[in-house]
Amino acid sequence: MIELISKLPIAPLDPAKLFGREAPLHVDLGCGDGSFLCELAPQLTEKNFLGIERLSRRVEKARRKSETIDNVRVLRAEISHAVRYLLPGNSVVTFYLLFPDPWPKRRHQRRRIFTRDFLDCIAAALQEGGFLRVTTDQLDYFRQIEGLGRAHPQFEIVAVDDVILPSTKFERRFCEKGAPIYRVTLRKVSPVK
Ligand SMILES: C[S@@+](CC[C@H](N)C(=O)[O-])C[C@H]1O[C@@H](n2cnc3c(N)ncnc32)[C@H](O)[C@@H]1O
Repeated sequence: MIELISKLPIAPLDPAKLFGREAPLHVDLGCGDGSFLCELAPQLTEKNFLGIERLSRRVEKARRKSETIDNVRVLRAEISHAVRYLLPGNSVVTFYLLFPDPWPKRRHQRRRIFTRDFLDCIAAALQEGGFLRVTTDQLDYFRQIEGLGRAHPQFEIVAVDDVILPSTKFERRFCEKGAPIYRVTLRKVSPVK
């Protein structure tokens, strides 16, 4: 059984120890079966990629897929716990939040992961100038994310076209159905004093 890290005592990770080297850290929040990580990491071998996922079967699958890829690690953990407690401050260069659970029903929307508090924790874990890249197929969620990003003093919305990201499993599924996909990238900036 793969232990859920949020049930263990809180101790911040040491990324250099986890990967056996110091390298810019990219974190995929809700990495599912790891297909995105396993496509991107071999293209960017000079970076470390950490997947966070709470479902043990998906973690197992992601670990199997990434077995032969040196710069990928997968942890079974809750996203909010990992961002708040496990990742050291100013340690992450890029977060990916790709198709977070949408909770489309109005009465369920308070379960959505993306809140002001979540964004505060992301800001703390990100290095200055670091990115949070988000995709969703839900227009109202997208607007909520954009609004929270715009209102946050430590973020600006930016256009990023340097790296073409691989499609995730859910992205391929939505594309096949012809569903629209919304993307936004937030960059951590110094708050205006
Ligand atoms: C809609 S799927 C998207 C998976 C993947 N990012 C993709 O695009 O193919 C959302 C994933 O996030 C995971 N997840 C949702 N909430 C989570 C949480 N609070 N902590 C950890 N993982 C979570 C789910 O188990 C699922 O694997």
